[in-house]
Amino acid sequence: MILITGGSGQLATLVATEARARGLEIAVGSHRAASLDGKRRHTDFDSPETLDFSDVETLFLISAGYAEDDVVIRRHENAIAAAERAKVKHVVYTSLTGTGDHLGFALAHRWTEQRLKRSGIGFTILRNGLYAELIGALAKPENGVISAPFGHGAISSVARRDLADAAVTILSEPARHSGRTYELSGTESWTINDLARRIGAEYQPLTLSEKRLQLRQLPLLPFQPPMLMSIFSASAAGFLQSATTDLTALISSAPLTSLDVAAKAAVA
Ligand SMILES: NC(=O)c1ccc[n+]([C@@H]2O[C@H](COP(=O)([O-])OP(=O)(O)OC[C@H]3O[C@@H](n4cnc5c(N)ncnc54)[C@H](OP(=O)(O)O)[C@@H]3O)[C@@H](O)[C@H]2O)c1
Repeated sequence: MILITGGSGQLATLVATEARARGLEIAVGSHRAASLDGKRRHTDFDSPETLDFSDVETLFLISAGYAEDDVVIRRHENAIAAAERAKVKHVVYTSLTGTGDHLGFALAHRWTEQRLKRSGIGFTILRNGLYAELIGALAKPENGVISAPFGHGAISSVARRDLADAAVTILSEPARHSGRTYELSGTESWTINDLARRIGAEYQPLTLSEKRLQLRQLPLLPFQPPMLMSIFSASAAGFLQSATTDLTALISSAPLTSLDVAAKAAVA
C-alpha cells in the first residue's frame, strides 16, 4: 500500500488526486487532528506514536517544512525511523532543487536526503523546484507595483501540478526509480520583470535591507524572515535558474507554463 503523508497540504492533495486518477490504491495521512475525517490516518511527525507504517509498502514523505531546522530534522528523523521499524520497502521524499542550496530551508532537506540514503530503505528523492505559485505570491503587486527584492535573476520555478504528476509516475513504479535523485525545476526560466509585464504591473525592486525592515513590521515567527530573505537573495544573485531538469521525462502531459501559474498567483 502507498501512504501519502501531509494530506491536508497543497502538494499532497494534488498527488492524492492524481494517484487516484491513475488507479493507484493509496492511503492519506495528516498531522491535523481536526482534519481527520475518517478517511485520513493520523501521521504527525512530531508524535512518533502516531507513525505506524506496518502495512505500508511505499511511503510518500512530504517534507514537513515551516519550522526551525532542528524541528524539521527531528520530524523527518521520526518519519524515517518509523519507516525503518515497519520495514517499508520504498520512501519517496519531496526535497529541494540543487539550485536552492543557498536557501534557508535547504539544510533540513539535504540532511533528510543523507539520512534516507543511510537508512537501507529503497528511496527516490524528488528535488522539487520552487513553486511558481510561491514566486507569484511573493511578487504580488500593490497598486500596480511589484516591490520585492528579487533583483533581475531568472527563476526556474515549477507548477505544483507538474510536481504532483512526476511524483505519481514514481509512485506507480517505485522500484524502477530506486536510488535515483531527480531534479525537478521548471522547464522555463523568467525574471520578475517578465512577470510584471505579464500582469501589467511595474517592477521596482527593493533592496534587501528595505525588505528586511518591512518584514520586521509583520507578525512573523523568528525563523521566517531569514527564510524569506534567502529566496530574494538567491534570486537576485541569479542562483535560482536551472540549466537542466528531469521534469519532462517524468510527467504525463506537457508542463504548465510556470509564468502563467505565477501570474495567476500574483493577481489572486
Ligand atoms: N518547493 C517549494 O517552493 C516549497 C515551498 C514551500 C514549502 N515547500 C515544502 O514542500 C512541502 C509541501 O508543500 P505544500 O505547498 O503542499 O505545503 P503546505 O500546503 O503549506 O502544507 C504543509 C505540509 O506540511 C505538512 N506538515 C506540517 N506539519 C507536519 C507534521 N507535524 N507532521 C507531518 N506533516 C506535517 C502538512 O501536512 P498535514 O498538516 O496534513 O499533516 C502539509 O503537507 C512543505 O511542507 C514544505 O516542506 C516547498
